Amino acid sequence: MKTKTLFATALACLFAAQSACATEAPRVIERNGRHALLVDGKPFLILGAQVHNSSNYPEALKAVWPAINDLKANTVLVPVAWEQVEPEEGRFDFSFVDTLVKQARQQKKHLVLLWFATWKNTSAQYTPAWVKLAPQRFPAMLDHDGKPSYCLSPFGTETLKADKRAFVALMAHLKKLDSTERTVLMVQVENEVGTYGLVRDFAPAAQAAFEQPVPAAVLAHKKPVAAPAGTWRDVYGDYADEYFHAWAIARYIGDIAAAGRATYDLPMYVNNALRNPLEQPPKPWNKDFASGGPTHDVIDIYKAAAPALDIVSPDIYNAESEQVNANLRLFQRADNALWVPEISNAAIYSRYLYAILGRGALGVSPFGIDYFNYSNFPLGATSTDREMVEPFARVYRMFQPVQRQWAQWAFDGRTRGAAEGDDRKPQTLEFPGWVAKLSYREWQFGESSWKSTDKLPAGTEQPGGGVAIAQIADDEFLVLGQRTRVRLEPLPGQNGMMLRAEQGRFDDKGRWVMERVWNGDQVDYGLNLPAEPVMLKVTMGRPAKP
Ligand code: DGJ
Repeated sequence: MKTKTLFATALACLFAAQSACATEAPRVIERNGRHALLVDGKPFLILGAQVHNSSNYPEALKAVWPAINDLKANTVLVPVAWEQVEPEEGRFDFSFVDTLVKQARQQKKHLVLLWFATWKNTSAQYTPAWVKLAPQRFPAMLDHDGKPSYCLSPFGTETLKADKRAFVALMAHLKKLDSTERTVLMVQVENEVGTYGLVRDFAPAAQAAFEQPVPAAVLAHKKPVAAPAGTWRDVYGDYADEYFHAWAIARYIGDIAAAGRATYDLPMYVNNALRNPLEQPPKPWNKDFASGGPTHDVIDIYKAAAPALDIVSPDIYNAESEQVNANLRLFQRADNALWVPEISNAAIYSRYLYAILGRGALGVSPFGIDYFNYSNFPLGATSTDREMVEPFARVYRMFQPVQRQWAQWAFDGRTRGAAEGDDRKPQTLEFPGWVAKLSYREWQFGESSWKSTDKLPAGTEQPGGGVAIAQIADDEFLVLGQRTRVRLEPLPGQNGMMLRAEQGRFDDKGRWVMERVWNGDQVDYGLNLPAEPVMLKVTMGRPAKP
């Protein structure tokens, strides 16, 4: 494979990214267990940014675009609320969507729309007042004693009908507005669904369904626990209630998604508030997460009940590296593309972007990228200005010039990535023929084993290292990263060495611009990526056998 050809392709793709001639609908595809989001027929990397929940109004967008541009995001995730598009039953108002799409085009950004409707963080708060005020028609879930929960029931046939009708109206509007330019890439259906405090609906219709045999599609996807067939309790024992609730919610969302796609076919996904990924095997629900939400252990049930959804995706708000890595592993499956629609905007999370994009995600999107005067600390950053955006912008600046090519490399299985762990321990990334050995908290000169100083580099008090590497030819690598020592070496038992490491960048035409060749001190102790991210093009070689 010739590097030059790859870069030329990257260039062509970059220019196609926002062209008004897009005709092919975006779609998610799979090959050899890896995925790509095709935009204009080619893999696209979402360098995303999600705005605050209440930024879905034209005036609010004024505080959005400066943050998006500071971040260098290529895609913005914005809520569209049922309460705003159907304030009175049957009267639709898509004026915000029109404004948003128009401004996104002016800003040369793509969009992902978030359908906040029956459930937003499990609650009904984004439903229109006419839904909130009619509990007989739009029923809540009931507990064992018949007491209503705060959460709407997935067995509310009128709720489903009304939500679906509004969603289909949105998709029909988008079809008219956007099927030529394709500014909108994907749609998230509902937001962080499930129920806190109650494992499932115990109302009569729900109870009757619970006593039915588990549907064949579920049995085919989700391994039985207690018996090969029978009722939910027979088959799934202590997990029956939560699995049943996942099925009920997935079926409801899947029905809405299918109707939306029949009108205008865009990729669709769900996001979720995660359960602890380190509890393996997962224990039955014990009020410790939102039951019925698309947590990692019920992805199979969502696949069975909601085939119209392309992806079940994680929202990452726990900074522990072991948790983050476990979640990335659990959500990246041959039948489920990795896509991270939310990750906290606190600086400590920014290094994970290298791990996420390196392991071949369709994209990532920090949450709260918006200069609205609101901070979701302690979940996210305390600052609400450029200071909040900068740690993420640093990383996006590395990926931005190679975004389309990176998506292709990832789809071809050529990329890897890592973030410094909380344990600060070395890590390795394996490639065909070569291995990258990573270590952290090193001075740029010398070996820590020499113990010549007790001092550690300033700014490494918290883990902040990260690296993403693409094997762009058999013996050639593109290395993007910060605060990491990278040693590229032959696999054990093989011969090989580093021949050349160029620090450089891509110009606005997609051409590699070499800034300097790292040699001498700059390579004697590995490639020591500084606090400010750098990009290196590294050529390896194998000496001829004697
Ligand atoms: C996750 C939700 O999906 C977001 O909409 C938001 O509520 C954050 N949590 C918290 O800021």
